[in-house]
Amino acid sequence: MSLVTLRVALARAEEGGYAVGAFNVSSLDQAIAVLDAAEVERSPVIVQSIAGMSAYADEERWWKRLRRIIDDYPSVPAVLHLDHGRTYEDCARAVDCGFSSVMIDASREADGDLPASFDDNVALTRRVVEMARPHGVSVEGELGTIGGAEAGIAGIAENIVFADPEQAALFVSRTGVDALAVAVGTSHGSVKFTDESGGQRLRIGLIAEIKERLPDTALVLHGSSSIPAEAVAVINAHGGDVRPSYGVSPEQKSEAIAHGIRKINQGTDSHLAWTAAMRRFLGENPAVVEPSALLAPAVDAFREMVATRMREFGSAGRA
Ligand code: 13P
Repeated sequence: MSLVTLRVALARAEEGGYAVGAFNVSSLDQAIAVLDAAEVERSPVIVQSIAGMSAYADEERWWKRLRRIIDDYPSVPAVLHLDHGRTYEDCARAVDCGFSSVMIDASREADGDLPASFDDNVALTRRVVEMARPHGVSVEGELGTIGGAEAGIAGIAENIVFADPEQAALFVSRTGVDALAVAVGTSHGSVKFTDESGGQRLRIGLIAEIKERLPDTALVLHGSSSIPAEAVAVINAHGGDVRPSYGVSPEQKSEAIAHGIRKINQGTDSHLAWTAAMRRFLGENPAVVEPSALLAPAVDAFREMVATRMREFGSAGRA
């Protein structure tokens, strides 16, 4: 069986000094693209889906299908992870659907985007750990608030509340989480930093400080897309209107890995690749309506982007 927990996948990454990519998918075609990339690259992988974000109306059927697809890839060590569970119930449903890992994002209040108090974050995260652990399911928590726009995650890079190293140590000891997402300067979504130097706001020193206090906890970098300018240009040349911006460069991600990041969350880069390929195809083939013809380039582009990131994160060849 290829399904593994986040704890196991990230412990291996710690030993090997690399990071495992956690790729957001919102359709079965995208999950297949991610798993195909992992198979070809002989890489461990984290397939993740954000609560409330898929192409399908019935979320639990979608989650169960995702779980079944992983069995088609016996050679791939794959974690099935719930990204940004906002409530205890989100996480419990994902556990019921066979996920091997869940994130409870209790860093913000569930009914808004204001930062939650440290004690409230600890209390909800601890409850999710107590629910998940007997099922052998790993838990990721979040400290500080990561900005950006994704599935109702409001704010912009300027609104980041950075993680505090002392609090991080306290948070892990009080909650027992297997992995910790730390706010160190990145933000979610396709609009990140508006000038090239914005990427420099990634606080590598802060990652190192947190790692020093938490040598046995896997640290997670959210909002890690690089926002390739070519993909944005193709989208905009074919009827799109994506605001150009700057993301986190591959070099900065390598530096983050060298200082202790073991899970790198990435959705936007592959979504841009998918959208660019689909828009280009439709623009160049205005008479084609056959779905396989327009899906194929999108799946190929998604898979290639994921494969590139696996090589950059050092996970290729580790399965
Ligand atoms: P990006 O939007 O930078 O790809 O980040 C995705 C993410 O962190 C999901 O949790």
